[in-house]
Amino acid sequence: MIVSASTSQSLAAALAATLDEPLASTAHTRFPDGELQVSVPDFEGERAVVVCSTTTSDAHIEALQIQDAVREAGAREVHTVLPYFGYARQDRAFEPGQPVSARAVARALSTGTDHVLTVNPHEPSIRECFDVPCTVVDAAGRLADPLPALTDPVFVAPDAGARDLADTVKDGYGEGTVDHFEKTRHSSTEVDIEPHKADVTGRDVVLVDDIIATGSTMAEAVSHLHDREVNRVFVTCVHPVLAGTARIRLARAGVDAVYGTDTIERAESTVSVAPAVAEVLSTF
Ligand code: R5P
Repeated sequence: MIVSASTSQSLAAALAATLDEPLASTAHTRFPDGELQVSVPDFEGERAVVVCSTTTSDAHIEALQIQDAVREAGAREVHTVLPYFGYARQDRAFEPGQPVSARAVARALSTGTDHVLTVNPHEPSIRECFDVPCTVVDAAGRLADPLPALTDPVFVAPDAGARDLADTVKDGYGEGTVDHFEKTRHSSTEVDIEPHKADVTGRDVVLVDDIIATGSTMAEAVSHLHDREVNRVFVTCVHPVLAGTARIRLARAGVDAVYGTDTIERAESTVSVAPAVAEVLSTF
């Protein structure tokens, strides 16, 4: 049975349809003190696939509670799909006294599952944070699907770390060139981008990153592009976090359209990772 947290309902439904497995109902209660309780009243069967993008601290609790509920209801095999694994960017203690938050939450999630599956994590080494096997799914191959017909396109990563993603999107689109910028991050909302000398004048540009969170990275990258008289600018990412005023920042920067996947369910989630996730789950 597929069991969805509140953060991943459409993706879980798509997975259930693709895998031809039933989708469990869930019931959510919020107690007067603020505590959350998610129950899975009709769970049956031996295998549970828990689907939960951990975009908030509550979502982490939901994942833990659903894992526990399905075990209580008799599941012998639990797979936990974390389409977006929150806290993954806190993958080290950057200063003395800081926690390795990714490891802390990964350990907690590992206690209730036999296997974790996550989609395009910021660092693939995040797998090592879990105490159970963790499979990484690459869903970037379909990021080009919603793009319109482009004029002489160039696919640009805002930093070297996203260069492979930009290559993948270019390959998915079928034509164009690839470049990347250099990024220096000063704080969670401030970045500097050093553009390369690629010829972008008069061309359509597709900026590609794994995550758009505050939109600082993309907005800064776009400002360098408009300096160079590009044609249209599109941005695409795997995980459209789009926190706070990110959409306003991107629109003001001059972005023509934003695309993402349904690892986080947003209006911009025009690409589904369900086929890629289902393909892996069907091998278990
Ligand atoms: C970090 O290196 C990631 O790849 C993204 O560039 C980053 O998470 C984007 O964050 P923001 O939208 O807040 O600049």
